[in-house]
Amino acid sequence: MSTVAPTVPTGLREDEIQIYDLHKSFGQIEVLKGISTIIRRGEVVCVIGPSGSGKSTLLRCVNLLELPTSGRIFILNQEITDPDAFADELRTKMGMVFQQFNLFPHLTALQNCTVAPINVLKRDKATAETNALKNLTMVGLGDRGDAYPAQLSGGQQQRVAIARALSMDPELMLFDEPTSALDPELVGDVLSVMRQLAKSGMTMMVVTHEMAFAREVADRVIFMDGGVIVEEGPPDAVIGNPQHERTRTFLRRVLDPTHVDTGAEDDAYAARHEGLPDKDGDGRTPILGEGHHSAGLGGGGLF
Ligand SMILES: Nc1ncnc2c1ncn2[C@@H]1O[C@H](COP(=O)(O)OP(=O)(O)OP(=O)(O)O)[C@@H](O)[C@H]1O
Ligand SMILES: [Mg+2]
Repeated sequence: MSTVAPTVPTGLREDEIQIYDLHKSFGQIEVLKGISTIIRRGEVVCVIGPSGSGKSTLLRCVNLLELPTSGRIFILNQEITDPDAFADELRTKMGMVFQQFNLFPHLTALQNCTVAPINVLKRDKATAETNALKNLTMVGLGDRGDAYPAQLSGGQQQRVAIARALSMDPELMLFDEPTSALDPELVGDVLSVMRQLAKSGMTMMVVTHEMAFAREVADRVIFMDGGVIVEEGPPDAVIGNPQHERTRTFLRRVLDPTHVDTGAEDDAYAARHEGLPDKDGDGRTPILGEGHHSAGLGGGGLF
C-alpha cells in the first residue's frame, strides 16, 4: 500500500512538510537512508517502527534540531535545508512535544505557556495570557494555570506542554512519543487532547507506539525500519493489512508484547543490542546502545 514517493518540490504551501531523499548520518552510521514524503495541511500522519529505525531523527530533522546530511526539506513551502533559510522563524511555526515534557520547573503552567509568545513573538502579556488560558482550557487545565509542574501529574504536565506549543499558534505540530513516559492511566487524557487537536484540523506528525490511536486518528501511517519508509498508507492498510513482512513482524511484537518470536527480526534485535552480526541480512547495521525505550521485546504501548 505504499504511495509513490515524490521527487520534486510541489511548490504548494498546503504541502506543509515536504521531504525529499533525506539522509542523515552520525559519523559512519547512516540513520536515515533516503526518506521522501509529503504531509499536507490538516493531515495526521503517525510514524511507527522499531527502536532505532530513525523516527526521532526524522522528526528532529524536520524541526531543524538535526542538520540533514543530504536531501531537501520544505516547511510551508520554504526550504529549511537552504543555508539562507530563516530557521528560527520557521521553527516558530512548528510546535514540538517530546516524550519528556521539558517544562520550566520554576514557572507556573500559565507562565510556561506565555514565556515564548512574549519573548519570541513579542506579544503583550495580556494577549499572551488570554491565548495561553484558552489553550490550557482546551487541554482540560484551565483551572490549573497557577500550578507549578511539580504540582501536576505527568499526564497533566504533558498537556501543559501541548498547550505551551499551541500558544505559539503553530501551523503544524510534531509529537515524539508523547505518551510513552506516562503511567498507563494517564495516557488516555493526553491522547484525547491529541484526538481533539486532530479533529480541529491541525497538521500533525506523530511518532507513536499507540496503535489504537494511530488506527483511529491517523489519515496515514508510515512504517519505518532501518532508516527507510518500508510502507505507508491508510491505517487500515498499514496496520490492518500490512504488505511487508517487516511491518507484520513489528506489529505482532507491538500488539502482543509477550509474543516470543524466534524469527529473523529477533536476530536483528539481538544484533542491535548485543553487537552480534545481523543474521537476517536485512542490511541494517548492528548498533550498540540503541533501543533505550521501545516497542521492542516487552515494551509495547497501550491499545
Ligand atoms: N546524536 C546522535 N549521535 C549518534 N547517534 C545517534 C544520535 N541520535 C540518534 N542516533 C542513532 O540513530 C539511530 C536512530 O535513532 P532514533 O532515535 O532516530 O531512533 P527511533 O526510531 O526514534 O528509536 P526509539 O523508538 O528508540 O525512540 C539509533 O541507532 C541511534 O543510536
Ligand atoms: Mg525515538
